[in-house]
Amino acid sequence: ATAPLITPSLLDCDFAEVGREIARLEAAGVAALHLDVMDGHFVPNLSYGPPVVADWRAVTDLPFDAHLMISNPAEYLDAFVDAGADSLLVHAEVVRKPADLLRQIRDRGCRAGLVINPPTPWTAVEPYLDQLDSVLVMSVMPGFGGQRFQETVLEKVRAIRAARPGLRIAIDGGINARTADQATEAGATQLVVGSATYRADGNYAASLGEVAEAAR
Ligand code: DX5
Ligand code: ZN
Repeated sequence: ATAPLITPSLLDCDFAEVGREIARLEAAGVAALHLDVMDGHFVPNLSYGPPVVADWRAVTDLPFDAHLMISNPAEYLDAFVDAGADSLLVHAEVVRKPADLLRQIRDRGCRAGLVINPPTPWTAVEPYLDQLDSVLVMSVMPGFGGQRFQETVLEKVRAIRAARPGLRIAIDGGINARTADQATEAGATQLVVGSATYRADGNYAASLGEVAEAAR
């Protein structure tokens, strides 16, 4: 398998020093950052929104994948695009007309992706596979970092892979050096890495390198 794209998530980082965290991730050679946006409604936790993303935009050129764990993504599309998001990932569980929203995202020059929680069948995204740039398969219930990888979702990765061999399939939740190989083996081409990224010595090249090595 080709080496997966590894995107660290800004969630279990040091929020008192995010600029330093971003600099360390850049130094580690990452290709993009995964931004976990939570509204305290779709998920039982709060994180950050457009003004914070805009400030981060000013300190890095890395692409931002905005994972919108919010109940009303359509209402915030413009705000996240204006803040500098490059890719918007919206949950299939809350989008009423996915085709319309995906088109609006792309019309604004962003890449569009649909996300499915562990209980959501892959068929929820099936009608839209030609209209999106990626599918994000959650391997934990969203809301918190550091949860255990749910391998039952791998079946959905395989099904999507079979339906659209060239499509980018990302997996998010519980990815570390012990679980990464299962994800890529099933057909995931992108790994979101949250808590496994961060370690006290700040050597994220080492922590992400271990995940990359395990995924080969
Ligand atoms: C879960 C978020 C994930 C999270 C992953 O709510 O969508 O991106 O940060 O963290 P880990 O890798 O620790 O499961
Ligand atoms: Zn995420």
